[in-house]
Parts: sequence; structure tokens; C-alpha cells
Amino acid sequence: MSDSLPQGVELTSLDETFRNDPYTLLERLREAAPVHEDTQLKRFICTRHDDVKNLLRDKDLFTDPRKANAGSFAREFLIRDNEEPSMLFMDEPDHRRLRSLVTKPFTPAAVESWRPRIRAVIRRILDDIDSAEFDLIEHFAGPVPAIVIAEMLGIDPHMHGQFKRWSSLAVKVSFNPFPSEEDLQAGRAAMNQLESFFRTEIESRRAALGSDLISDMIRAEEAGEKLSVEEIVGQCNLLLVAGNVTTSDLIGNSIKALLDNPDQLTRLRERPDLIQNTVEEALRFDSPVTNSGRIANRDFELAGCPIKKGESLMTSLAAANRDPAVYPHPNKFDIEREDTHHQSFGGGRHLCLGAHLARLEVQEAILALLDRYPNLSHSEKGYAYASIPSFRGLSFFWVSR
Ligand code: HEM
Repeated sequence: MSDSLPQGVELTSLDETFRNDPYTLLERLREAAPVHEDTQLKRFICTRHDDVKNLLRDKDLFTDPRKANAGSFAREFLIRDNEEPSMLFMDEPDHRRLRSLVTKPFTPAAVESWRPRIRAVIRRILDDIDSAEFDLIEHFAGPVPAIVIAEMLGIDPHMHGQFKRWSSLAVKVSFNPFPSEEDLQAGRAAMNQLESFFRTEIESRRAALGSDLISDMIRAEEAGEKLSVEEIVGQCNLLLVAGNVTTSDLIGNSIKALLDNPDQLTRLRERPDLIQNTVEEALRFDSPVTNSGRIANRDFELAGCPIKKGESLMTSLAAANRDPAVYPHPNKFDIEREDTHHQSFGGGRHLCLGAHLARLEVQEAILALLDRYPNLSHSEKGYAYASIPSFRGLSFFWVSR
């Protein structure tokens, strides 16, 4: 039955139709084959809300791609050249140990203490915009999370631009099953530069520990909890890869949803206290991360589809968030929706570590932008979606102010 349904690249943002509108296609999958075997990329794509929710929270499933069957998606595409996986791709007990050493700065209270500095970063970025029309991604959504994380890591403000360029190049290849040779080379070079940059930062911090995240990680190491230099570098890289593009995408996707739905924009301008619900609805409506993977630890059956141990399961967060069995009028962007819960930050033990930070940044970014520009609107120069598989966001988005 699933043979007539799209396969392989057609189910990634490398394909133009999927890139511009993944939702119509995902709806077809959910109706025709809620667990769809992608025979080309060797993975099972799950599109029903409850299946996605349960798989993400299933403690027995694996995420370490090295445990996937040879030839399956996770083994082929999620890890390269014998590299050590980041905690996103680790299983217990290594995952718990690493995660517990970096959770403190990401608790709601710790993140809240950053609010004044985040507001100041956003204000500075807005102050630099001087033309009547501008690309919201390049001049606003891109810089906000890159500069916030650079400040949290205690990086010299003069390095912020360079730091952002390296992290964007690294992200471009990190989750892409088919990077071009050019992207691959640029991505690898950027990763090497980031690595030596972080090593130098760690060295200089040892001499004078400060109140930044790198110093916190060194302190954890010195407290005998053994976070090696390699692990600190790995954590820094993961924070960049996991936190930058995603948060930029959420800013872009939220503003686009508001400009596309002027009644909702007007409502938010009248009632800024709806900002939290607005961001949750934007996460549900147009999730910056479209899927997350798990690996079967056993043979089992899901929605009538047999899954064998070691096979790759791809949970479609984007499809789950628009399942009509759970959400009334799922394709409507409604900032006053009562139930805005979503799967966009994943779930279970890998639940996004940066969720509170991302929420705070995006809430502050939207309010500041709308406050600064009372007439913000689409520009005729338009927008385009980026083609990074597993991510959904705009590569450019011109607005008038
Ligand atoms: C809107 C922005 C963001 C979205 C949509 C997002 C989404 C996700 C998703 C879907 C996962 C995988 C969860 C799973 O498989 O169950 C994840 C993991 C992770 N995210 Fe985020 N993320 C965002 C922002 C951030 C930020 C700002 C940071 C940190 C600065 C961050 C750090 C991480 C880390 C470290 C993990 C791995 C957690 C683990 O394996 O235990 N993310 N994120």
C-alpha cells in the first residue's frame, strides 16, 4: 500500500514540494500509512500524534545510531567517520551523566535570570536595522540566538560575527543526509575551527574562571565529575548545532504566521499577555524541528506495521502537531487555542535541554519587534524555505517596517 506514497528525498526539505508545504504530504501519510516504510532511506516514518508521543517517551528505545542496523537511516546518515556521538545520540548511562553536568544553566529559574541580558541583545540588534525593508532572517532571527549563546558561553563580543558564521556552516551539514561536496568541506573546516576555538577558550578560562557556561563546565570537571576537554568541546558544539538554527527558525516561522494571519497579529498587539500562548501555538503550527529519531530495541508492531530490532524510526513532530484526532482545525494558527501542547521539543529523556531558553528568546524577540515596528508587514521581495532536512525555517524573509 505504501509503495504509491512518496519515498526518500521526496520526504525531506531537499524536495521543493515538501519544502514549501510538508503538511499536505504528511497528512496523506497519516491517513494512508501512519507508519510508512521509506524503502529508499531505510526508515519508518510515524505521523500519528499518539504514536509519536509514545515513541519519544519509550525508555527502552535507543537513540545511539551505532545500534542501528547496517544500511538503515540512523546508521548511514546520523553519524560520520567514527565520530563520537553528542548526547543527542547517546543512550544510558552515558547520556544521563553528560546531561546532568549541563542542565543547571538551562532550568527555568537560571534561564529567567538571563532575561535582562537577552532583552538588551535584542534591542542592540534592532538598533542596527536602518532600512525600510530588511531580511528578517539575516538581520534579526539569525543573530538573536547566536549572540545570546555566545554571551552565555562568555565569548568575546568581537568574535560574535565569526562565531555565528562557523556555527551556521556546521549546522548546514550536521543533519543533512546529502550535503554537497562544497557544503561538506566548508562544514568540516568550520567544525575544525570551532573545535580549536573552544579549546583555546577552555584554556584561557582555566586561568580565570568566570560566570559563564564554559567556566561552569570546567567547575563540574574540577568537582571530580570528570567532564573531559573533549566533552566540553562536544557540549559547546551541540549547544550551537541544537540551539541556533532552531531558535532562528522559530522566530521566523512565528513572525510569518502572524503576518499571514492579520487577525491574530492584531489580537497579539491588543493583548501582549498572549505572547506565551502565541509561541506555543507557533511551535505547534510550524515546528522548527520536523522529526526526531529512535531505534527499535526489539521486534514489535506499530499501527499494523512490523518493526524489527535495529530499524530506524522517524517520528514526524510536524505531522503529530497537526493530527486532527487531537487538535480541532489543526491547520489554523490560533494564538488563543486552548490546547497548544506539541511535540516540537521531542520528549522523554532527550527532551530539548534548551526549551526554556528558546521560549524566552522567542517571546522577547516577537514582542520587541512588534513594539519597534507598529506597521510590520510582508515585503514584495518575499521569502523562501531553507533545505536543511529535519529543520523547517526560512532562508530569507523580507519584511517592511
Ligand atoms: C525553538 C527552538 C528549539 C527546538 C524546536 C528544539 C528542538 C529539539 C528537539 C526536537 C530535540 C530532540 C528531542 C528528542 O529527540 O526527544 C532537541 C534536543 C536538544 N536540544 Fe533543542 N530545540 C530548540 C532550541 C534549543 C536551544 C536554544 C538549545 C541550547 C542552547 C537546545 C539544546 C538541545 C540539546 C542539548 C538537545 C539534546 C538533549 C538530549 O539528548 O538529552 N535546543 N531539541
